[in-house]
Amino acid sequence: MFDRKQFLKTSLAGILPLGFGGFASTKTYSGKKPVVVSTWRTATNANQAAWKVLSNGGYALDAVEEGVKVEESNPDNSTVGYGGRPDRDGKVTLDACVMDEAGNCGSVACLENIKHPVSVARKIMTDSPHAMLVGPGAKQFALSQGFPEEDLLTPESKAAWEAWLERGDYTPPAINIENHDTIGMLALDEQGRISGACTTSGAAWKMHGRVGDSPIIGSGLFIDPKIGGAVATGLGEEVIKTAGSHLVVEMMRAGHSPSEACQIAVERIIERDPKNKEGVQVAYIALNTDGAYGGFSIRQGFDAVITDPDGMRTEPTGHLF
Ligand code: GLY
Repeated sequence: MFDRKQFLKTSLAGILPLGFGGFASTKTYSGKKPVVVSTWRTATNANQAAWKVLSNGGYALDAVEEGVKVEESNPDNSTVGYGGRPDRDGKVTLDACVMDEAGNCGSVACLENIKHPVSVARKIMTDSPHAMLVGPGAKQFALSQGFPEEDLLTPESKAAWEAWLERGDYTPPAINIENHDTIGMLALDEQGRISGACTTSGAAWKMHGRVGDSPIIGSGLFIDPKIGGAVATGLGEEVIKTAGSHLVVEMMRAGHSPSEACQIAVERIIERDPKNKEGVQVAYIALNTDGAYGGFSIRQGFDAVITDPDGMRTEPTGHLF
């Protein structure tokens, strides 16, 4: 049976020797406004774009959209948008969602040939009666809204897929620590409005039609207007099984700091299936409506990029193993 005390011991052993600052699970980082927090150290350019909006008094939802679009356009990011690795059939299929300060949301899954799924998700939120569109219907909607149709498979992605086909037997590889990634971003603007976005091409060489956590509201992203928000990265299947981002926000509602709330959600993944100790990575970041932020991951190696009036910095999070 899962031993929560043992976990806490493991967790503290995992984080204290490394001397984490704002991301130590035992410490609440009191935040400043405006602020933007993103998953992974690769998010510096994305944060810069978001900060341009926030530092000019702009809207948090615009900030997260502009921010993650940078990575959707980046051909060198093999897990998001243009240049994202395709599924086992060679098709690039994208998942994304947004949520605003009122708890409105839009989401798109398994979208092909549209470079900016985050903007399609926002349009679904604002210009359709629905919260989520998938596959060909999502593409039809995007085209009707004027999004251009584009080939998202870069020569590098195509070569990587062809090399995998030669090596592999068309069986999707285990989704593990090496095979996932997402950019998730949370922002709080000067007026105190909080928004979030996440976007991904999902697991490389996945089965066609596989959808991860990123477009699932409550799993990959959740915002509660009164409490704050959370986003996830890592193995989407495990995030979905534990409704991770919603859990983080509910733990903040119960009085936990953002880091503690993320730690509880990470522990839940191991509690549900202890086999997840081996080779699985999931990480959460969270931001509350006061601007306090935090994060936590299953394994070491995850970090977040924070930009606020003190500047931009990359901080590792606490972790279990
Ligand atoms: N977290 C991204 C995915 O599993 O698709």
